[in-house]
Amino acid sequence: MAILHIYDVNVPEEEALLKKHSRPVEAVTPRIKTLLDDMYETMLDAAGVGLAAPQVGVLRRVVVIQIPDEKRINLINPVVVSKEGEQTGEEGCLSVPMLAGIVTRPMKVKVEALDENGQPVAVEGEGLLARALCHEIDHLDGVIYTDLATEMIEYSSEPEEPQDAEEPARRKKNRRKQH
Ligand code: NI
Repeated sequence: MAILHIYDVNVPEEEALLKKHSRPVEAVTPRIKTLLDDMYETMLDAAGVGLAAPQVGVLRRVVVIQIPDEKRINLINPVVVSKEGEQTGEEGCLSVPMLAGIVTRPMKVKVEALDENGQPVAVEGEGLLARALCHEIDHLDGVIYTDLATEMIEYSSEPEEPQDAEEPARRKKNRRKQH
């Protein structure tokens, strides 16, 4: 496995790629499995809970997600087939450093995809998993959460005096939620 470069919206040529549509995977080849493994390692290294292939510069419909204490989820050509309810909360992205935003997402989603062996799978997600599924699938259509956020929150890269008692917890929480 290898740790890949994560594309950053602050770099113009990387932003341009992040805004493109990704193409479906036609065959789940060893190359796609290697991509999934490299994306997974890259995501863990960056302390994220999800990563989409365009974030490593590959315009293919491939996503990896791992919510803390849950199993790794590999998704190829994922499609949201149903949505239910609503949640409004903080969201971050590994391609948008030092920012978070308030985004409304469905509370529950069902996603159909292929797994790493090319077999059909259905994943039902609620709460953070529903948010991560929507966020990562949006990446495949060139949509970044900052386009959907009603409010943006800036985080400092340097440790600083907390503004209030909640600040350190919020910063820590945000880091776990980066996609
Ligand atoms: Ni993201």
